[in-house]
Amino acid sequence: MNAVEIEQAITDLAELPLDRANFPYAFLEAFGNKDTTIKRLRAGASNKSDLGGVLQTNHIHILTCDLGQVSQSLRALKNSPATVKAKAKFVLATDGIDFEAEELTGGEPPVACAYKDFPDHFGYFLPLAGITTVREIAENSFDIRATSRLNRLYVQLLKDNPEWGTSERRHDMNQFMARLIFCFFAEDTDIFVGKRLFTDTIAKMSAGDSSNTHGVIETLFRAMNMSLGERAAASIPRWADALPYVNGGLFSGNMDVPKFSKIARAYLLNIGNLDWTKINPDIFGSMIQAVAEDEERGALGMHYTSVPNILKVLNPLYLDDLRAKLAEAGDNPRSLLNLRKKMAKIRVFDPACGSGNFLVIAYKEMRAIEAQINERRVEKNIRSEIPLTNFRGIELRDFPAEIARLALVIAEYQCDVLYRGQKSALAEFLPLRSENWITCGNALRLDWLSICRPTGTEVRFQADDLFHKPLNQAEIDFENEGGGTYICGNPPYKGSQTQSKEQKSDLASVFDPLGISSRQIDYVGGWFMKAAAYAQHTVADAAFVSTNSICQGRIVPILWPEIYRTGCAIHFAYSSFKWANLASHNAGVTVAIVGLSRQPRTKKFLFDVSTSGDVTVKEAANITPYLTTGEYVVVTSQRRSIAGLPDMSFGNMPVDGGHLLMSADDAAALGLSDTDRRSFVRRIYGSAEFIRGLVRYCLWIPDEMVAYAGQVESIRARTEKTRTMRLASKDAGTREMASRAHQFRETYQGHKHTLVLAGVSSESREYLPVGLLNGRSVVSNLAFALYDAPLWTLALIASRLHLVWIGTVCGKLETRYRYSNTLGWNTFPVPTLTDKNKEDLARCAEDILLAREHHFPATIADLYDPESMPDDLRHAHERNDEVLERIYIGRRFKNDTERLEKLFDLYTKMSAAAGSAGKKTRKGTRV
Ligand SMILES: C[S@@+](CC[C@H](N)C(=O)[O-])C[C@H]1O[C@@H](n2cnc3c(N)ncnc32)[C@H](O)[C@@H]1O
Repeated sequence: MNAVEIEQAITDLAELPLDRANFPYAFLEAFGNKDTTIKRLRAGASNKSDLGGVLQTNHIHILTCDLGQVSQSLRALKNSPATVKAKAKFVLATDGIDFEAEELTGGEPPVACAYKDFPDHFGYFLPLAGITTVREIAENSFDIRATSRLNRLYVQLLKDNPEWGTSERRHDMNQFMARLIFCFFAEDTDIFVGKRLFTDTIAKMSAGDSSNTHGVIETLFRAMNMSLGERAAASIPRWADALPYVNGGLFSGNMDVPKFSKIARAYLLNIGNLDWTKINPDIFGSMIQAVAEDEERGALGMHYTSVPNILKVLNPLYLDDLRAKLAEAGDNPRSLLNLRKKMAKIRVFDPACGSGNFLVIAYKEMRAIEAQINERRVEKNIRSEIPLTNFRGIELRDFPAEIARLALVIAEYQCDVLYRGQKSALAEFLPLRSENWITCGNALRLDWLSICRPTGTEVRFQADDLFHKPLNQAEIDFENEGGGTYICGNPPYKGSQTQSKEQKSDLASVFDPLGISSRQIDYVGGWFMKAAAYAQHTVADAAFVSTNSICQGRIVPILWPEIYRTGCAIHFAYSSFKWANLASHNAGVTVAIVGLSRQPRTKKFLFDVSTSGDVTVKEAANITPYLTTGEYVVVTSQRRSIAGLPDMSFGNMPVDGGHLLMSADDAAALGLSDTDRRSFVRRIYGSAEFIRGLVRYCLWIPDEMVAYAGQVESIRARTEKTRTMRLASKDAGTREMASRAHQFRETYQGHKHTLVLAGVSSESREYLPVGLLNGRSVVSNLAFALYDAPLWTLALIASRLHLVWIGTVCGKLETRYRYSNTLGWNTFPVPTLTDKNKEDLARCAEDILLAREHHFPATIADLYDPESMPDDLRHAHERNDEVLERIYIGRRFKNDTERLEKLFDLYTKMSAAAGSAGKKTRKGTRV
C-alpha cells in the first residue's frame, strides 16, 4: 500500500465508532498487512499479546480498553514483558474517545489525541508500512493528509474529465489545483474574511448532485480576478462578492473549471474541512508536486530534499555569514541597518527548484534574521525589505513551478503573521503580486544571466498574467547592486547510462562549446558548469546537493579542470553521506554537497556526516575535486605505473562465439587423454569465476602444438567453429584472427603464477578481491591480471588504502567498485619500498592466502561477506594494512579521509615527477 491508500484507510477507520474487538486488525490492515497475516493474528497463532490485545512481533502492541482507561492501558502495554520480547516498535491504546500511542525505539514523543483525530498522526505510524521517513514528514501529518486528499481529488477529476489529462490541458488542470490550494489556505487564515468562506459558498451554492459545482467555482474565480467596483458590470452574483480581489496572475487567464461528479464534490468539501493553517510550505510544496505526476502519485514526493539537508547547503553558502554579521552588529543600529539593506539585495537562485523548497527555506531563514535586526532596532512591525521576487527559480515541470510561487507567497504571509502580526500581514497581502519569478523551462538550455540578471540592469518586463504569458523569459529585474547571488538547489542526477536522448543533448549544449565531450558526465554536471560560468559575470557563489559520483572517477578529470578554469574553487563541501530522506524504496543513495566560489577565501570548510548523523567540520586552505583537503588535483589515466609497479593488464579476450570456452562437462566431453588434457585445457577465470568459485575451462593451445591439436577431432571441431565465427564478423580485426582460431585475441599467461583481480566488486566488501592463480590458469578479459608479479603486489591490492583509492579515482558502477588498471593501478602512489618492506608485505599476502585456505572450499564471495568474514582472514588483512600504512606514515591512518589526503599528496608529487599532474585546459565558456 502506498501512503495515499493508507491515509484513506485510516481516515475511514476513524470515522466509524470503535469496534473494540476488530479495531487492532482493521488498524493493521490499514497499514498494508496481508489477509493471511491478519488471519494468523486473529487465530492467535502469531498474536503474542499478554494483555488480551493484539501484538504483532517487531511491530505494534494494540489494546482497546474500557472508557477512561487509555493512559493506564498504554502504561500496561509499555510495561508488558511480551512487548519487550516481541520487540514491538509501537504501543497503542484507545477506548474510542481517546487515543494514545508511543514509539518505543526512536525516541519520538508520544501521541495523545481524540480518537477521531488519530489519522492526523498518520505520519507517525508510517514505519509500520515499511515507509521509513524523516521526522519532518512524520511530524507534518497535515501536509501528508492534505496532499493525499488533493491527490484523490485530482485522480477523480481526471476520471470525470479525461480531456483534462491530455498534454494540452494538463496546464489548466495544474492551474486549477493551485487556485484551489490558495483558496483553502486563504479561507482558513483570514485572508478571506469569514472562516471557510470558499468551501461553504461552494457547499451552499452548488447542487447536491454536483451538476453546477464547476459553474459556482468558476464564478468565485472570476470574482477573485476583479476589483469590487468591476463586479456588477460583469454580472458577478452577490454571493461571490464576499471574496476579495486576489489576482496576481493566480485568477486571471483561463477560468475553465473541470466538471465535478458527486464524489469529486464530496472530496472537495472534505478537503476544505482540513485545517489549512497548519500547512508548511516547504514540505507541502514538495509533496504536492507528486500529485500531478502519474508515476509519483502515492509516493507523496517523499524523495524531496529535507530541511536539514537544505540547510546543509544554505548555511555554509551564505546564511552562516549573515548570522555572523548579525552577531557582529550587536545592537549597533547603523550596522544592523546596513545588514538589513544588504540582505534586501541578496538573490537566491535555484535552477532546478521543484516546488521551491530551497527558496522557501532561504526566504524564511532570512526573514528570521531580519526580524532580529528589527527587534534590536526597535522597529518590530515594519514591513520586510526582503523582496520575495529575489528568490528565483527555474523548473522544468509546470505544476511544481506554479506551486513554487504559491509556496513562496504562503511563506511570505506566514512570516508576516509571525514577525509583524496578522493585521499587518493581512493589510498588505492582497492583491498578490503579478510578477513571475519562477521560470518554467529547461535550466540547461536557458540563459541564466537573463533569468537572474547581473545587478544594475533595468526592468525588462512586468507580467500581468502569470499563467499565460510565456514563462520562459526573464520578466523582472532587481535593484540589487551590492547584493550577491547565491545559486543553490538539488538538480537531477543521472548517470550517462540513464540519461534520455534529450538530456544527453542538454548536456552536450553546455559542454560542446567548451570542446568537452559530455558522454561520461552526470546530468547534474551541467548545473555545476553553468553555475561556474555564471559566476564569471557577476558576484555569485553556488552550492548544490549532488550525486557523489560527480567527485569520483572518470568524470573528475573531465569536469573539474573546466570548472576551475572559470576561476571557481570548492569553498565548502559535504563529502559523501547517505540520503536520509527517502521512502524506504530509495534508501541507499549517497550524495555530496559541493559549494563553488570565485571569491578569494583563506579558509575552506569540509564537512563530514558520520553514519549516526553527527556533523564534523575541518578547516583547510583548499578542497580537492575529490572532496578531500589539499591542493587541487585531478587523477588522469597513466600508461605505466607512476610508482614503478609491475604492469597490470586486462585478461585475455576469447572472441570465440563460445567455442574456446567450456564448462566442466564440455571439457570432459572432449574425450582427451590425461596428457592432451594437460596440454590443451586450462581453468579460466573472469570476475565471476574468481569471486563465486565457478568452474570454467578453455582451450589453450601452444603454437608449437597446433598441428598436433588439429588432429584431435573434438578440438578441431571447436577451433573450426571459432574460425567460422571470426570470418563472419563485420570487424576486420576479428576476421584477421580467423587464421589463428586456436587462440584467444591475447595470449598472456603467467609462468610461475598470475594475480587475478575482479573488474567490479560489491561496495559492501571491505577489500578488493585479488587472488593468486597457478601458472596454468588463464585470466579472461572480465578480470585484470598481473603475470608473475611478486607477491607483495597482492598485499598492495588487498589493502584498505588501495580500496579507498580505487573507490575515489575510478568511481563506482552503480554501487560496485569499478577497477581500472590505467586509472587506478598505474596512478596508485606507493612510496619507494625497501627489500625489507617487500618481504614484510609478501608475508602479509601469504597470510591472507593461508587464512583463505583454512576455509576451503569457501569462495571469495563467502569469505568477504562483511557479515560473516572469518576472524583469521580479517586479522590477516588488518595486519597487512598495519604493515603497509606504517610504510606510508609510520602508523595506522585514522580514517579514510586521512588515507586519501596522503595518497593525493603523494600522487601530486609522484605524478609531477612523472610530468603528468592534472592540467587545467583552456577553452571558452558559455553560461
Ligand atoms: C531532485 S528535484 C529537486 C527539487 C526540489 N528542490 C526538491 O527537493 O524537491 C530536481 C528538480 O529538477 C527538475 N528538473 C529536471 N530537469 C530539469 C531541467 N533540465 N531544467 C530545470 N529543472 C529540471 C525536476 O523536475 C525536479 O523538480
